[in-house]
Amino acid sequence: MRDDQPAWYDESNGTWSLFRYNDIVRALRDTDTFCSDPSRSLPPEVAENAEGSMVSIDPPRHGRLRGLVSHVFTPRLVEQLGPRIEGIVDDLLDRALADRSGRFDLVGDLAYELPVIVIGELLGLPASDRDFLVRCADEFYAVEHDDPFNGEYMESMQSTLDELNSYMLDHAQLRRREPADDLMTALALAEIEGERLSDREIRNFAVLLLTAGHITTTALLGNTVLSLGENPDVMAAWRAGSVDPAPVMEEVLRHRSPFTEVYRFTTTDVEIGGAVIPADQLVRVWLVSGNRDERQFADPDEFRLGRTTGRHLGFGMGIHYCLGAGLARVETTAALRVLARRAREITPVLDELKFYDAPGIFCLRSLPVT
Ligand code: HEM
Repeated sequence: MRDDQPAWYDESNGTWSLFRYNDIVRALRDTDTFCSDPSRSLPPEVAENAEGSMVSIDPPRHGRLRGLVSHVFTPRLVEQLGPRIEGIVDDLLDRALADRSGRFDLVGDLAYELPVIVIGELLGLPASDRDFLVRCADEFYAVEHDDPFNGEYMESMQSTLDELNSYMLDHAQLRRREPADDLMTALALAEIEGERLSDREIRNFAVLLLTAGHITTTALLGNTVLSLGENPDVMAAWRAGSVDPAPVMEEVLRHRSPFTEVYRFTTTDVEIGGAVIPADQLVRVWLVSGNRDERQFADPDEFRLGRTTGRHLGFGMGIHYCLGAGLARVETTAALRVLARRAREITPVLDELKFYDAPGIFCLRSLPVT
């Protein structure tokens, strides 16, 4: 598709797709032409799912919201979480290795729960609600469907989203009444030039942290261990401490991008990749394809550390660049550090892999390791 139809219209669902790195970068940067407001072209019952969430807002509202949130969800706050995250990984591994067989499921026993615990603690949610949060995540991602625009799929997500929205709203209101030392309280108190976040905006952001920051981080950790398993030289170097986890993780973000696609909506007719995309069309922006574009990355299907020919698109680009990229990196690095310390060998059982079939993500559901 990158060679023959870089901008492709899918008649089966009425969407456009972009596949080339440069076209993707253009779409992510040119927010006047490629906006994030779903109400432009999706039916209201589908669009309202994303209503008010930072990812689906355009300038100038986006800048105001992102500014307020970034004011408290800072790189410093995230960096400080490293030691606590290592503690959580240790606990999860204690449980996983309790049967002494040495075999465990890197995703089911570790990577799936870790981000929920981290985000729950960060927001100051009671540990007793963890099962509820995990169940919500299960309901989002257990849905097996390859068409994200299918009404049935949206409907099945809606009731879970309603439940999560009302849970987070209650909690935001509680923290406004009874402040504590957590991110939810900091969001409630955040103020720039007299502007504050409303309870609804706090709720939306808290829900976004969970929906955008859970399965993606699960995927990054799972995909990283899978890539290490497939590249024994890199695995050996990492275990010996001669390769840092950071470049491994960055190449995984390119080579096995957890987030496969993002969506934009055209505000006007636009020529791209030799085609004219009319106004008010839904455009699927295939990060995963841009990350394998041979025009940008030499031998793109090869897993190769230290690439210098361009930024990967794993965390997106432009004004919506992933706000949780730092947290995802800290979580994954902490988990890799503990794994290197605790597990004598980490050998993925490559013929027992299971993947999620939910749209938009490339994530293992099960990665047995011995
Ligand atoms: C946005 C990927 C982890 C919070 C994005 C976008 C991508 C992405 C591609 C851009 C969406 C767009 O352009 O429409 C990832 C990946 C992750 C990850 C691959 C893990 C490996 C996280 C975490 C959090 C988070 C841990 C927070 C806890 C967000 C938020 C946005 C976002 C709030 C919206 C930013 C905005 O619209 O300004 N992420 N993400 N993400 N991500 Fe992440």
